[in-house]
Amino acid sequence: MQLTIRPLDASSDLELEQYRALEQALDDHAYGGHQEESLAQLRAGLEDTPYWTVRRWIALAETLEGGEMLVGRAMTFTPQQENLESISVGVAVHPAHRGQGIATALVEEALLPAIAQSGRTLVEAYGEIEAGVDPEDPAHPVHRLAARLGVARKNLAVCRALRLPLDPARLDALEAESARKRGEYRIEQWVGEIPEEHLSAYGRLLTQLEIDEPDEEVEHEPAEYTPERIRVSERRMREAGTIRIVAVAVAPDGEFVGNSEVHVHEAPGSTLGYQENTLVMPEHRGHRLGLGLKVATHRRLAELAPQLRSLVTWNSHVNPWMIQVNEKLGYELLFREVVMQGRRAG
Ligand SMILES: CC(C)(COP(=O)(O)OP(=O)(O)OC[C@H]1O[C@@H](n2cnc3c(N)ncnc32)[C@H](O)[C@@H]1OP(=O)(O)O)[C@@H](O)C(=O)NCCC(=O)NCCS
Repeated sequence: MQLTIRPLDASSDLELEQYRALEQALDDHAYGGHQEESLAQLRAGLEDTPYWTVRRWIALAETLEGGEMLVGRAMTFTPQQENLESISVGVAVHPAHRGQGIATALVEEALLPAIAQSGRTLVEAYGEIEAGVDPEDPAHPVHRLAARLGVARKNLAVCRALRLPLDPARLDALEAESARKRGEYRIEQWVGEIPEEHLSAYGRLLTQLEIDEPDEEVEHEPAEYTPERIRVSERRMREAGTIRIVAVAVAPDGEFVGNSEVHVHEAPGSTLGYQENTLVMPEHRGHRLGLGLKVATHRRLAELAPQLRSLVTWNSHVNPWMIQVNEKLGYELLFREVVMQGRRAG
């Protein structure tokens, strides 16, 4: 097979269409659904921000008929405000073209030179391990590639999916369970942008999540979510066609003490959504607020995104509290994700 590795040319509609087709095939394979972004929405999501920069490469295979097929992609993600020693890298190959050295070529021809060029000394990568397979098996392609990248396991996360639509009776029962322990706390729910007066409080929750999320031995500096940073992420979501469903837990004194988000895509053909960012502040745990927050966001799905078939979420395997909430809602294991890091000389 003749393989060419080169940077993605995001200005070419044709190339971007092929890139989108690859991303959709990867999502269908991993999650059983995908999002139908327009090319403009996809382009908006590819842009850098003041907080990070991204480089992307594609692997093109020459077909027998003489055409070219986009069969794999690689990327580097370089934080610009915190984690200034770190570079995250990713590589993925179309499920029908695995086991032919495509990922190895992307690592050697694109990622290793880009890591060296970046001057960053802490390399991070994520790998998907199929359910039922030993996540530690050194012969698994993820660990073979990790060895080439100089990274090794620091945390193990689990990706779970919830099949939709949900049974409203199940949500009613869970809401009743959460309400019994809620006391004077309230759950508020809204769609879209964070109201101006709550931006700083919401930013503190987002930072606290990065501090508190159990992640074993992963080295990570929490980001500071300033109002500007939140607004930048909201603009990106808007441009990408993403609808954000937010719930917050409010303490009796009015303080924001927890939050949860679900991100869905507006297109009628988008069948996949993401459960993101659930946190209850340490001193306010034990009131079933995590469950209450998730019930509040999931209740809106039938009305705001009836096209959705699957909602996916990730938790560290050392986070029994969140996993319990997810299992009550009906989330089921899809695959394991190893989080890997490694140090290299600068
Ligand atoms: C992991 C992934 C990128 C591998 O892509 P690929 O093109 O099949 O990988 P390669 O063909 O280059 O193989 C990489 C290594 O795994 C081995 N390998 C690949 N498929 C294998 C198989 N079915 N059985 C046993 N070994 C296999 C190769 O021999 C090679 O080993 P080597 O380093 O000793 O030479 C691909 O499965 C994928 O896209 N997974 C989802 C995304 C992901 O997890 N990416 C993170 C990578 S760190």
